[in-house]
Amino acid sequence: MSTSCFDLVVRNARAATASDVFTTDIGIRDSRIVQLGSGLPEGAREIDARGRVVTPGGIDAHCHLDQPSSSPVKMADDFNSGTISAACGGTTTVIPFAAQQKGHSLRAAVEDYHRRADGVSHIDYAFHLIVSDPTPEVLKVELPELIGKGYTSFKAYMTYDDLKLDDGQILDVLDVAKRHGAIAMLHAENSDCIEWLTQRLESMGRHAPRFHAYSRPMLVEREATHRAIALAELVAVPILIVHVSGREAIEQIRWGRAHGLNIFAETCPQYLFLTAEDLGIDDSYTGAKCVCSPPPRDKANQEFIWNGLRDGLFTVFSSDHAPFNFEGDEGKHPQGKEVSFRHIPNGIPGLETRMPLLYSEGVLKGRISLEKFVELTATGPAKTYGLHPRKGAICIGADADLVIWDEREVTIRNGSLHHAVDYTPYEGMRLGAWPACTLLRGEVLWDGESYVGSRHRGKFIVAGRPSILPDVRAS
Ligand code: URP
Ligand code: ZN
Ligand code: ZN
Repeated sequence: MSTSCFDLVVRNARAATASDVFTTDIGIRDSRIVQLGSGLPEGAREIDARGRVVTPGGIDAHCHLDQPSSSPVKMADDFNSGTISAACGGTTTVIPFAAQQKGHSLRAAVEDYHRRADGVSHIDYAFHLIVSDPTPEVLKVELPELIGKGYTSFKAYMTYDDLKLDDGQILDVLDVAKRHGAIAMLHAENSDCIEWLTQRLESMGRHAPRFHAYSRPMLVEREATHRAIALAELVAVPILIVHVSGREAIEQIRWGRAHGLNIFAETCPQYLFLTAEDLGIDDSYTGAKCVCSPPPRDKANQEFIWNGLRDGLFTVFSSDHAPFNFEGDEGKHPQGKEVSFRHIPNGIPGLETRMPLLYSEGVLKGRISLEKFVELTATGPAKTYGLHPRKGAICIGADADLVIWDEREVTIRNGSLHHAVDYTPYEGMRLGAWPACTLLRGEVLWDGESYVGSRHRGKFIVAGRPSILPDVRAS
């Protein structure tokens, strides 16, 4: 038996947190960080990180894994492939969605989702809820009960027929969030405008993937973002707007904040690295690979997103990984054929590339600081969703979830990724960094070349009260 007081020492790390970058050894015992400082005694195992940046393990706070879809559509990634892929890209905690189906209970969705994740996930996980049917039972009993049991965030949709809530229903769920200490995430797009535009496009014979972007212009996101903010103001509760795509939605969020409202925001790699042209400049079906909602915009909007990442508009940077294969009848070719844009499953893969893309294009190109990178990819999500300081931090007592970065040239190739999706929208992109090592609670999962984790070690994390909510004592 080892007599060392550490199971592992990560030595000479250039540790980055959301507030500081400092050189330290990191002493780990029983899965947790127990000491920081120079010249720590030898551990039972040692990893030399000299010259390397070490960040907290990433938290991907918006991803879809094994989420039931209507047949024949099926997600390519379950908790097995999805969480291996996440770990190989530096993510150690995921927060996917337990989605209520209309006419069914929310509790049933959570039980079903645990069956999909428990004993299967390779990294730690919490769940957001999706509330699609806020019946009196859900509002009065199920949602408060689930919030109390550690499901302290939920998403409400303003679009998609099978998920959307009307304004009155949104007010009802926001009121539950306020009274029970949860954070509500809003998918903000105006459903009626989208339907009206879609019908017009279809009547003109415009069915190609690129028309998806025409059916969801920035105006529909701007209007819904403003409405979401107004609904939150009425209830006097903080909200988080998910997958913000560009200038007009950002302006609404800045407006809300300027009026003293607690409006938080998330964005995703697709709004930094893709544009509407990736949905096709002609009627080719390849653009289906980049069909997601809201759609990617243009280069000018990418700059607005970078500004928002730099200046604190965004709290969370997530992948919105929605893993549908391009080939085959379960994904982007439902029924095995090229379909009109309205029937293309929405979403793109991105769990494994999220952290390297932002490190490489953000930190290494001088667009954001290393501290900001940590805040957006780990600390911000942990605070927003009640996981901090156990997750998203390099401090004594935190889980030893760490990423050691290797600043080397890497070309993204789908064949090198670990998800089960048959494409990446970032194929051929050249990056300047990739994780050399990902550690979950002190265990190496990714060694820079291969997935080496012991199987299915991921634990469900009971989320606490989101620390971005107002202090209960103050109200
Ligand atoms: O197109 C997207 N974003 N698909 C995933 C579902 C959602 O709305 O986040
Ligand atoms: Zn959404
Ligand atoms: Zn999503």
